[in-house]
Amino acid sequence: MSQPTPCQLRSRCPADTMSIADKLAKVCIPGDFILLTGELGAGKTVFTKGFARSLGFDGLVTSPTFTLVQEYRGRMNILHADLYRLESLAEFDDLALGEQTNLAGAVALVEWGELAKPSLRTQYLEISLRVLQDDWRLVTISGSSASWDSRVQSIDFGSLKVDDSLQERELLRN
Ligand SMILES: Nc1ncnc2c1ncn2[C@@H]1O[C@H](COP(=O)(O)OP(=O)(O)O)[C@@H](O)[C@H]1O
Ligand SMILES: [Mg+2]
Repeated sequence: MSQPTPCQLRSRCPADTMSIADKLAKVCIPGDFILLTGELGAGKTVFTKGFARSLGFDGLVTSPTFTLVQEYRGRMNILHADLYRLESLAEFDDLALGEQTNLAGAVALVEWGELAKPSLRTQYLEISLRVLQDDWRLVTISGSSASWDSRVQSIDFGSLKVDDSLQERELLRN
């Protein structure tokens, strides 16, 4: 079976990134793990805010700093982690985030999630944010399982979807 290609979206503003997060939140189930990758300022926390709003949490959403993980209570709870200050993989293992996520019936959103990959024993969805010119973002969504692939494919991203036109290829070159 051929590998499904990642889904590529174009975000022109923070509201677009939040709308992408909203659509993804609607197909999430307890125990899901989402890794957010991209440079500082790429929009990982903006994405998390959109995700939390979608699940009915309207409190403050910021990158956890003093703790590595914080919890938001909504229709489904969210464990929001930020590994920017992670000193070792053992420190991530000590969080037992996979177990916590399952126990809490929550979904985990992990900023700088690529750092956790060597330790992950669960399937995950990866959202990569790349800064383009004019503050646009290229958002690439790739799943590590058939369940994620089919859920992502079921979402109608409408005009946010990057198509194959010449103009889009120009955009990606920058
Ligand atoms: N298309 C966009 N998507 C997300 N954020 C954007 C976008 N355009 C501009 N921004 C700005 O970029 C910043 C992203 O910050 P943040 O989400 O905290 O980044 P990170 O968590 O990846 O370090 C915010 O100030 C946001 O307003
Ligand atoms: Mg952040």
